[in-house]
Amino acid sequence: MITIATPGEMRAWSARRHREGRTIGFVPTMGALHDGHLQLIADAAERSDDVVVSIFVNPLQFDVDADFDAYPRPIDADVAACDTAGVAAVYAPTAAAMYPSGYQTRVVPGALADLMEGPGRPGHFEGVVTVVNKLFGAVQPEVAIFGQKDFQQLRIIERMVADLDIGTEIIGHPIVRDPDGVAQSSRNVRLTTEQRSAAVAVPHSLDAAVDAARRPTTDPVDVVAAAVAVIDAEPMARHEYTTIFDADDLTEVDRFTDRSVGRVRIATAVWFGDVRLIDNRDLFGD
Ligand code: PAF
Repeated sequence: MITIATPGEMRAWSARRHREGRTIGFVPTMGALHDGHLQLIADAAERSDDVVVSIFVNPLQFDVDADFDAYPRPIDADVAACDTAGVAAVYAPTAAAMYPSGYQTRVVPGALADLMEGPGRPGHFEGVVTVVNKLFGAVQPEVAIFGQKDFQQLRIIERMVADLDIGTEIIGHPIVRDPDGVAQSSRNVRLTTEQRSAAVAVPHSLDAAVDAARRPTTDPVDVVAAAVAVIDAEPMARHEYTTIFDADDLTEVDRFTDRSVGRVRIATAVWFGDVRLIDNRDLFGD
């Protein structure tokens, strides 16, 4: 496995692989790799000849400096995990290599970024699509894998790829959960033991919503209330939002006209101390 630090070297490596007739599967990450990332890597390996993993904590997508500073960066363990997982190249550029002096270009996402996470995290999705665009430019992947935990991010990236004629196929990989149901996230390591135990309230709130939604006459408002009641009953949790949304255009669903699997999802954001967890589920599916 090779570790690459600059966009130029990354592009040259990918060009060589492409000349050899090989395809590249890409897993963009901010590091602190967990089992969920390893499953994305395995998915990429099934769909391509060579897997590239990027590890870059992107300053552009953090609206709060303290969150950027606190983001875990176990780079040696991450590189070792990639090697064990059979990754061909780790792309780990520095911030100076990504955003050198004089850098000024941003990619501006559209209306999908104004919903759900958008209002509470100004500039976040602009930072995400800008960095993903740059990473795609350097890695030149045929296929890229993103986790469905960041469901809105997935939809915004699919939109960007379609709008900007980027030829990369985007795959959304199902959420990987710990045995107690908590969605795997690099942020989980920042929870105290007590907060990690309390975090089961998040998947439990989505379970409560799914149960409520199965009753034929339930209104989305009642389904959200069932979910929020579970969060509110956990003293260590601070609820930010819960919303039921259309899985395609992310608009809020205020009436269940379609109960088919995959059409309607529920998403939530919950704080435990200064750690913000997000999760989502197919309301009539998983
Ligand atoms: O999902 C993430 O880890 C990040 O938003 C991404 C896609 C790697 C861009 O920095």
